[in-house]
Amino acid sequence: MGSEQQFKSIKGTRDLLPEESTRVRSVETTIHDVMNRWGYGEIRTPAFEQTELFTRSVGEESDIVTKQMYTFSDQSGTSLTLKPELTAPVMRAYIEHDMARGGALTKLYYIDDLFRQERPQKGRLRQFRQFGAEAIGSPHPEQDAEIVALVYTILTEIGLDDITLHINSIGSDNSRNVFRHALVEFLTPHKSDLSETSQRRLQTNPLRILDSKSEEEQKLLKNAPSILDYLDDDDRAHYEDVKHFLERMNIPFAENKMMVRGLDYYTRTTFEITSPNVGAQDALCGGGRYDKLIEDLGGKQTPAVGFAAGIERIMLAMEQGDEDSDQKAPRVYVVAAGDAARNAVLKLTMDLRAEGISADFDSLRRSLKAQMREANRLSASHAVIIGEKELAAGTAQVKTLVSGEQDTWPLKEISSNLSSGQV
Ligand code: HAM
Repeated sequence: MGSEQQFKSIKGTRDLLPEESTRVRSVETTIHDVMNRWGYGEIRTPAFEQTELFTRSVGEESDIVTKQMYTFSDQSGTSLTLKPELTAPVMRAYIEHDMARGGALTKLYYIDDLFRQERPQKGRLRQFRQFGAEAIGSPHPEQDAEIVALVYTILTEIGLDDITLHINSIGSDNSRNVFRHALVEFLTPHKSDLSETSQRRLQTNPLRILDSKSEEEQKLLKNAPSILDYLDDDDRAHYEDVKHFLERMNIPFAENKMMVRGLDYYTRTTFEITSPNVGAQDALCGGGRYDKLIEDLGGKQTPAVGFAAGIERIMLAMEQGDEDSDQKAPRVYVVAAGDAARNAVLKLTMDLRAEGISADFDSLRRSLKAQMREANRLSASHAVIIGEKELAAGTAQVKTLVSGEQDTWPLKEISSNLSSGQV
């Protein structure tokens, strides 16, 4: 009987065991491939930043800033925060390294771990992984469309087909200010029917009421004014062009005028991609345009648009498909028939690995029979057996495990024969 385990992973965090890591890594390889093909360069930023970077960008009233940040003071009393999102850190780096110097358009992507103290549930963690991209420098609708197409392509290449793209425009400041007035005017007579949070938001950030999860509030909002009716001519033309470019690229979308997103930095285009297969937390991806953020963070006025997608939710959506176990098995299992062969077994394993062939051996000193059983359990394609006779002759028995065929090969030729597929 073991004693009770003393240490457990923290609520909302999880370990990735080898089988799952292999699956995540294969998804991440596709992400790197597509990003490189599309001309996006990888950026990696530190795990924590000055707290004010997030309060200034994501917004004082946002859920992230009011209740989800992991904030702490370091020894010098500076307030630091584990990054809850990456757009602000990437813009901080863009300004700090004067990346605008590299050209009028800068395209960056990332794959990274983030931290939000949310209530954990399926698809919602406290440490989670995102990949995302930011296109910095273009105000034009084709750039919005390219960013949407980029994430859409990645999700499709990963093998997700049952996904829905929702888009909206929340306009620039001018349009939004006029709309905000109209919305407050509409909601004020119904104030007492609103939840406490929505009543507070009526003062601080009325647009956020639009994506309320409450059924009653959604019923009330059916008759609310629509942001799309308040877009000025430029905002409207931009929105129409984004949709037009998406159509030209054959990317299906649904317009969703209630979608305002939970972060404060957006202007004009906002979008999300959802999957019906992942439960209540159905957003795989969120993004949009943020033409004022860089200026708000102390840089030059620079338009930008981007997205981020949650890798755990993507893995959940993929699990609904076929459960293909992609366990990393060694191709070759090197077997010692007797103690005298141990040195030669270790050396051959190392030589095969150095040649790029995945190989493993038994460090438990088990019997020949047990080693052969292990080779089968690991689904190795070949067992290479060295005994006293082979040692003396400088050879090994190479057994193809599926067919049971067995041959004797000079040790020196094993790696090249395996590489060329001769055995
Ligand atoms: P976000 O909507 O907060 O946007 O997050 C993007 C995605 O990250 C979500 O759609 C979801 O898949 C995943 N995600 C968020 N929170 C969690 C969680 N607690 N557990 C698991 N997955 C989660 C942003 O972060 C923006 N920075 C996106 C962006 C980039 N906008 C412009 N550029």
